[in-house]
Amino acid sequence: MLFPDSRGRRLRANDNFRRMIRETKLSRDDLILPLFAIEGKSVKKPIDSMPGHFQMSCDHIVDTAKKAQEAGLPAIILFGVPDKKDALATRAYSSDSIVQKAVRAVKEQVPELTVITDVCLCGYTDHGHCGVMDKGIIDNDASLDLLARTALSHVEAGADMVAPSDMMDGRVAEIRQTLDEDGFSHIPIMSYAVKYSSAFYGPFRQAAESAPKFGDRKTYQMDPGNSLEAVREATMDIEEGADIIMVKPALSYLDIIYRLKTEIDLPIAAYNVSGEYSIMKAGEMMGWVDARKLIMETLISIKRAGADLILTYSAIDVARELNE
Ligand code: PBG
Repeated sequence: MLFPDSRGRRLRANDNFRRMIRETKLSRDDLILPLFAIEGKSVKKPIDSMPGHFQMSCDHIVDTAKKAQEAGLPAIILFGVPDKKDALATRAYSSDSIVQKAVRAVKEQVPELTVITDVCLCGYTDHGHCGVMDKGIIDNDASLDLLARTALSHVEAGADMVAPSDMMDGRVAEIRQTLDEDGFSHIPIMSYAVKYSSAFYGPFRQAAESAPKFGDRKTYQMDPGNSLEAVREATMDIEEGADIIMVKPALSYLDIIYRLKTEIDLPIAAYNVSGEYSIMKAGEMMGWVDARKLIMETLISIKRAGADLILTYSAIDVARELNE
């Protein structure tokens, strides 16, 4: 039907009409809040590049976890800033390390909140790469066992789900096998299956103190020009036992989210990464944009593209706004 019989504006005329025909709605059920845990007591150190976010000792992590739960969020994802880095990323998988302690603290004091852990070595190796090095090269296969041990130690501490973000080949299978052998076949894996090599991770690397000391992550993270490869990576991880497939970053990769939504049948998570958050916050500090509205609009776009879950640094604020 053509104009004047058809008029698109009729159903945009008032807020009730708009609410009634809105196709995509954001829910607090969709949101996961990332938090950065650091050793110490009463530590709450602002992350300059991520206004509103902090490196927090376990007591503050627990306080924020409580706020997340009160706001109605289902889950948080924990990253650790360890006290010591070495060639074998030892603090990634020792039972008394920071993530393990933070998991235990949250599960003890906010037991109903789901705790996911990021599984990677970059914050724990002295060179800052996501796997171990052998003669200047990141050794894929030698990293797998350490990643699996890291995942296992998180789950032993009480993590409800693990999320490997290292991009080594074969790590989902290795983690699945290790968890199954140790009695954790019920613990799901959310795989950062489709993770691009991105400048949008800049602020996070300051937050997690995990920037590579030399080189970049292009030999393991994906090239931004590729889309078919995303399908391949997702398919491989599904075959290896992933339960949720993540795309990261989100905003420059909405086509990838959409493509995977139509081509695979697992839930899809999208990571609205640090750079996406910081750019909006910076724009707001300049007085140029309304970050609150930008965040809502971008989260809706990520969901509309096909994401079932969104990891976002704005999760608490957004959940509170949705509750109003
Ligand atoms: C660790 C990891 C990174 C992020 C999540 N897990 C950084 C990286 O790959 O360098 C980025 C998250 C963000 O930017 O918000 N490998």
